[in-house]
Amino acid sequence: MLTLGIETSCDETAAAVTSDGTLVLSNVVASSQAFHAHYGGVVPEIASRAHVELIGQVVQQALAAAGVAWGQVELIAVTAGPGLVGSLLVGISMAQALGAALGLPVVGVHHLKAHLYANFMRPDPPGFPCVGLVVSGGHTDLVSVEGPGRWVPLGRTRDDAVGEAFDKVAKLLGLGYPGGPRIEACARRGNPRQVRFPRASLGPSSLEFSFSGLKTAVLYYVQRQAAPGGGPPVAGVGEPAGAAPIPEAVRDDVAASFQEAAVEVLVEKAMLACARQACQDLVIGGGVSINERLRARLAEAGVRQGVRVWAPERALCLDNAAMVSGLGAMMYRRGLARTATSLSAEPGWPFDEAPSVSPHHADGRGVR
Ligand code: KG4
Ligand code: ZN
Repeated sequence: MLTLGIETSCDETAAAVTSDGTLVLSNVVASSQAFHAHYGGVVPEIASRAHVELIGQVVQQALAAAGVAWGQVELIAVTAGPGLVGSLLVGISMAQALGAALGLPVVGVHHLKAHLYANFMRPDPPGFPCVGLVVSGGHTDLVSVEGPGRWVPLGRTRDDAVGEAFDKVAKLLGLGYPGGPRIEACARRGNPRQVRFPRASLGPSSLEFSFSGLKTAVLYYVQRQAAPGGGPPVAGVGEPAGAAPIPEAVRDDVAASFQEAAVEVLVEKAMLACARQACQDLVIGGGVSINERLRARLAEAGVRQGVRVWAPERALCLDNAAMVSGLGAMMYRRGLARTATSLSAEPGWPFDEAPSVSPHHADGRGVR
């Protein structure tokens, strides 16, 4: 089934074509990140406007790169949530307009489930049940993936998402936006054992996360280093106004020590979830899953605990429409997807909300 996927939940305008929910024929991503950098984070209004400007050409590029004609497309899948409501609406409007014009069914896809589904877009996918760890800019969730389209939440963050912590720490270190890749780059040069930042466990059996204390601990540490006598300012370190003037070596050690604390908590809780669920497979997804330190530490822990750790290929880690197209196709074929008749933006779409199944597909063919 040739499926056009559309993703506009945050600051990436993306479109992709997949075949049978697993084979990626094209994967086009245009980002408005450069326009947000000046503000130190995503500005929803700027993101929505950029989506409006980019969506048409991105969709056309996805079709052209896949070598697929409009008449061959059988399904349209679009991210319906969670995400920024103004951004989601641009993708949904485009999907529904195309669906109406071409007489195609349109299904709404859950963005975080799509991140995890990216692990199943390979010839030898993981089996069920498995544990899923979502690590993105807005979410940190552990879920039990019990079967195709069956997700049971196990735990989530009580405050900041881990990607948000990366972004905020990068900002206070003067590294700018987006923070994750910049923290990772600095961390490669720093000593992860230089500063022992707190690891919030929330109890020995808790599968919940908390990253706000870690972020605050980094802030206080940086303020102490930047205080008079704490070290000379180094030119070129602090880009945005107000960034802490700390020496580059200290900055790199702080980045490495912060990353280590965040990664250790993720690894510990993911392995605890696997033990509790008696699962031998862990799938990870979301922007932070591209982080090599996280992948390496999970792989080490997996070997010790007898857990296979699956991560999507890099092109499917950050926000993209191939994962949306793939999950939409899989859900549609099983009759599990929201369709055009009930599609609306769901900025806070929870993980555990049962998918609503509408018998009225836009193409009138019914559930297959
Ligand atoms: O999934 P994603 O692209 O967008 C959301 O759905 O939120 O995730 C974006 C998040 C951002 O917080 C970004 O800083 C983080 O992923 N990220 C990273 C890395 N690359 C992106 N975090 C750590 N290390 C990275 N290399
Ligand atoms: Zn995402």
